[in-house]
Amino acid sequence: MTQQIATNVHWHHGEITREDRNRLLNQKGATLWFTGLSGSGKSTIAVALESKLYEMGKISYRLDGDNIRLGINKNLGFSAEDRTENIRRIGEIAKLFVDTGVFALSSFISPYRADRDNVRKLHEDSGFRFVEIFVDCPLDEAEKRDPKGLYKKARAGEIKNFTGIDDPYEAPAKAEVHLVTSEMSLEEEVQTIIDYLENEGLLSA
Ligand code: ADX
Repeated sequence: MTQQIATNVHWHHGEITREDRNRLLNQKGATLWFTGLSGSGKSTIAVALESKLYEMGKISYRLDGDNIRLGINKNLGFSAEDRTENIRRIGEIAKLFVDTGVFALSSFISPYRADRDNVRKLHEDSGFRFVEIFVDCPLDEAEKRDPKGLYKKARAGEIKNFTGIDDPYEAPAKAEVHLVTSEMSLEEEVQTIIDYLENEGLLSA
């Protein structure tokens, strides 16, 4: 756990609550946490889901590994420590989005179970919903797709600590949503998530 360094700091409450914001948006904000190998389809599913939600009059915002690493997390690499800090910061950012009433669609490899569980705890301790979505794509399939040519480089030894090649990926034991990408179309994957949100009552305030 990261240590609190500043002392004498206290959360300042406003007059408008998260329930007020949810009512305004007619939805219950939640973090939808996509985890899976590089090239598994996390970002593609998040993009399609964002469009589908928009059509339904629901607002979401994507937090994406590559995008975040070009900005707020530009000072982090891919060591275990840096990946942990990457996920910790995203977890805090996602929680802020959920507090606004928005669906935070977070797509990060997030290879370590403990890091994901910390983000879950961060949410649940404050009464926020955390929905883990396992984008389950076998390594050989992700490697065949290799959309950014990174597996090829990793196999050639040009990238070190590449997830799935010479760095671990710990699959979720009990994700709320399990998408088996070899058996589902993109539309089915999106619909599975929409059905989950509907059943959980998150698509109305
Ligand atoms: S995480 O492990 O810290 O969750 P994150 O999702 O932010 O990773 O970033 C992963 C993306 O960074 C990959 O999709 C890939 O484009 C790129 N990348 C560059 N180097 C690596 C590496 N060593 N391992 C995994 N992904 C890498």
